[in-house]
Amino acid sequence: MKSFDVLIIGSGPGGYVAAIKAAQLGLKTAIVEKDPYLGGTCLNMGCIPSKALLHSTEMFHFLKDGSEAHGISGDNIAVDIPALMKRKQGVVDKMSGGVALLMKGNGVEVLTGLGSLEGDGKVKVTGEKGDEMVEAQNIILATGSAPVELPFLPFDGQHIVSSDEAIAFDAIPPSLIVIGAGAIGLELGSVWSRLGSEVTVLEFLPKIAPTFDDDISKLAQRIYKKQGIQFELSTKVTGAKLLDDGRVVLRAEQKGEEKTYEADRVLVCVGRKPYTDKLGLEKVGIETDKQGRIPINEQFQTSVPGVFAIGDVTIGPMLAHKAEEEGVACIELIAGKGGHVNYDVIPNVIYTDPEIASVGITEQQAKEQDIPVNTGKFQFLANGRAVASGVTDGVVKVIADKETDKLLGVQIVAHGASELIAAAVTHMEYGGSAEDMGRTIHAHPTMSEAMKEAALAVNREAIHAINK
Ligand code: NAI
Repeated sequence: MKSFDVLIIGSGPGGYVAAIKAAQLGLKTAIVEKDPYLGGTCLNMGCIPSKALLHSTEMFHFLKDGSEAHGISGDNIAVDIPALMKRKQGVVDKMSGGVALLMKGNGVEVLTGLGSLEGDGKVKVTGEKGDEMVEAQNIILATGSAPVELPFLPFDGQHIVSSDEAIAFDAIPPSLIVIGAGAIGLELGSVWSRLGSEVTVLEFLPKIAPTFDDDISKLAQRIYKKQGIQFELSTKVTGAKLLDDGRVVLRAEQKGEEKTYEADRVLVCVGRKPYTDKLGLEKVGIETDKQGRIPINEQFQTSVPGVFAIGDVTIGPMLAHKAEEEGVACIELIAGKGGHVNYDVIPNVIYTDPEIASVGITEQQAKEQDIPVNTGKFQFLANGRAVASGVTDGVVKVIADKETDKLLGVQIVAHGASELIAAAVTHMEYGGSAEDMGRTIHAHPTMSEAMKEAALAVNREAIHAINK
């Protein structure tokens, strides 16, 4: 029987990063993956393919509706869906192939098949050629998550779909209803709206992007609306009917009123759930919590000695970069080093255009936690680079402790906010203050100057705005 120091089940960003770290630290490592490709949801069905589609459609949208103001115009701007999807798949294949190369280069053994716990450090790998039993001193569960289904609206892969299918439609649906205005709904809603689909987003809560402050969510909603996406907030979908012609009619409640919505396709993105199917948790006595997550302690240990869990399958935000950090920290702890994840400073991004990004707490959360704060804002309308590039929709909002000026949170709506947020993350990682950020020299002219200005605005010292 093959024997390893570390065996990881699941090759998403949590699992494969943990495997590389383990190999770097000299541990004999294997990774088990049920799919014929490596990289998990992020690389194959999530983060990477959606970003390929977002980039392609952003360019299409610009050429169709935004380029004339720059003096650039042309006839016959058209989109070729098979070509767009082929490029997306090329991107995915390249990234997934890169993970395979990293496994090989680091000496990590890849076992293709479904991994399930057998107890006593043993894992059964069920592949095409049958079962193989392997053993490891340390087993890490990194099996990720799967889309949540609404009970009255089961996925059929055709008319009622999850993001798995919505990144691969073979034609532009004339109309698309998106249920849920979180990251997936806003990103994929943008993709199909830019391609010409009539997109309506139904959201249960009274705001979109609910993890952001109300002013940020409202601004983002205004901008998306200008781009053509319709929103129905405080709307609870209660029933559905599939018509003979394949269209879907949804019944919903909106502030006590009955409403109906009809569309060619419905994308359900109301969250994801931990994926633990056939993992053998019952066999070894690991009980999941109410949300189906695998409980762990601060060292990522489950209730069974030698079995650890990281990423979407356990508690915390379902984000690739959170899983990656947990993978590294978990291995460091296994190797007797001081692994640690700073959960207070995890950036969060919705990759629309403009993007919305945040780190730390919101102003609302500060209020709920009785933390007195000062806030500063800076509009991209007053940023030279944004004006030059024609991307003035957006704002930076900085939240700092009233007494100490310590940065507590930053939220950005901007073209390229996903890159801008990194500076705020770094300042916060080192315990920086709003003044630190405001006194840091930023290159001119850049969008990043808005970060400096918003930080200065915390103490009413912004230069390119009238401080009130
Ligand atoms: P989400 O949790 O981000 O948003 C779901 C939204 O659906 C919420 O606004 C919620 O209020 C709403 N909702 C729930 N039930 C509803 C109902 N019955 N009717 C109408 N609205 C309803 O979930 P999403 O977008 O599916 O994403 C799943 C996970 O994947 C999240 O943890 C997300 O953070 C992560 N993800 C992150 C991305 C990123 O970082 N850019 C991209 C895609 C996913």
